[in-house]
Amino acid sequence: MTFTIKLTGVIVTVLLVMGTVLAFKKTSAYQHGYPGTAMDLVQSDAELAEKLKANTVPAALPQVPAGGPLSVDTYQNVQVLGHLSVAEFGRTMAAMTTWVSPQQGCAYCHNVANMASDEVYAKVVARRMLQMTMHINQDWQQHVKGTGVTCYTCHRGNPVPAYVWFNGPSEDPTARPMMQGKAYQNGAAQDVGLASLPSNVFETFLAGNASIRVQGNAPLPSETNNRHSIKQTEWTYGLMMHMSNSLGVNCTYCHNTRSMGEWETSPPQRTTAWYGIRMVRDLNNQYLTPLTDVFPAYRKGPHGDAPKLNCATCHNNAYKPLLGVSMLKDYTVLAEAKPQPAKTPVEPPPAEGAAPTEGAAPTPAPDAPAPAPAQ
Ligand code: HEC
Ligand code: HEC
Ligand code: HEC
Ligand code: HEC
Repeated sequence: MTFTIKLTGVIVTVLLVMGTVLAFKKTSAYQHGYPGTAMDLVQSDAELAEKLKANTVPAALPQVPAGGPLSVDTYQNVQVLGHLSVAEFGRTMAAMTTWVSPQQGCAYCHNVANMASDEVYAKVVARRMLQMTMHINQDWQQHVKGTGVTCYTCHRGNPVPAYVWFNGPSEDPTARPMMQGKAYQNGAAQDVGLASLPSNVFETFLAGNASIRVQGNAPLPSETNNRHSIKQTEWTYGLMMHMSNSLGVNCTYCHNTRSMGEWETSPPQRTTAWYGIRMVRDLNNQYLTPLTDVFPAYRKGPHGDAPKLNCATCHNNAYKPLLGVSMLKDYTVLAEAKPQPAKTPVEPPPAEGAAPTEGAAPTPAPDAPAPAPAQ
């Protein structure tokens, strides 16, 4: 009898222990603040393995030998890559195809019967994308550092990146006459991590440049026209939820929560993020929105605006896009914009009847264009 009780006790204990062990997901913790500040990131190992898989970088195409004719002399309509050799140009086209339209191939951007034609809208967008990528790598190093970006950072084998956004409907203050307008909130919104925070934070902060700072420095609203309020804070929190989700981190990745506003105690990642916000505004306003008329109607938002990007477009839930692996080092042509060389003038054919004499200075053809006047 006592033996049976003991045995049951042992079995129950073993099952409880095993159950407890199995029920808990194995996690890894990463500490990035002083001990005791709760600045840790705890992630399940299974999720980490998934993240690692989702961020595998495709093998780089083989490098091509240097030299050879320039593409500006070989092709008819090159405005950004004219300084590349024909071989390097071809390698870049091949890479762009695997990054952006692997299924559709060259024809996604080209009328393959006339490669020089700009009739396919995707080609016009892609040319601007080339300029945007070079601009990011050249002028936003405070954010992307030496790691940089390629088309793959955002596109990952798709013509339309997984994370883009459009303007939301504007609020109609008369729609709910009994109550005040909803101020875009009180509904679970994907963009702000399913919190009921104001949902149109992208328009406000990532295309518009509304101030994100909400910590007041004056006690009363009347003094210094202080507009810091709980309502403003909700908008800031909406953006912060997006930023945390996009990077797969929590608030303490960028803040010591003792004081959200203080920079001295914030980890350096917050400064990188500050530049990131400015970079995203710049890209949306200088590159995406000006393409509005180029995009066909089916690519635009319900209000006719161009697709735009946010932190998730590059980061895809990783603290650094592709977990910090640099693809740019294998595609240095995307590192900076270069001035475009002029086409090498074609040598004029020898004049009728006159046999060209070896070594004689070529006489300019009578109809050769006059040299451009110095500006
Ligand atoms: C994602 C869009 C895109 C894809 C896919 C693409 N191209 Fe291009 N292609 C462009 C852009 C943009 C230009 C113009 C570059 C410039 O202005 O410097 C161009 C120009 C060219 C030109 C120069 C044509 C001329 O005479 O002006 C050739 C040749 C070319 N591409 C070949 C290819 C080939 C071959 C493929 C498939 C392996 C390909 N492209 C895939 C966007 C693309
Ligand atoms: C920072 C992120 C980012 C980078 C880097 C980037 N793109 Fe894009 N791209 C976008 C966004 C956002 C759109 C708009 C999505 C849409 O068209 O609906 C877009 C659209 C496009 C389109 C139009 C697709 C369509 O069918 O509407 C093409 C083509 C394209 N990009 C090519 C490129 C090429 C080529 C490169 C590299 C030289 C590149 N992109 C780099 C974000 C990026
Ligand atoms: C990836 C980095 C990052 C993450 C993650 C992040 N923040 Fe921020 N936060 C910033 C930056 C950068 C600013 C300053 C923005 C500016 O000045 O333009 C800021 C500002 C703020 C402010 C305003 C401070 C002031 O000066 O008034 C608050 C409040 C805030 N964050 C709360 C949060 C909360 C809550 C979370 C988690 C849900 C969070 N943050 C996650 C980077 C981050
Ligand atoms: C054009 C692509 C792109 C966009 C858009 C982008 N980032 Fe980044 N971000 C990068 C790259 C690349 C790095 C890696 C830089 C490095 O190697 O240190 C990075 C690094 C960071 C880091 C530093 C991480 C660390 O641990 O050091 C933070 C924080 C960050 N980004 C926040 C943001 C926020 C917030 C946004 C949106 C406001 C944003 N990023 C938008 C490309 C982007």
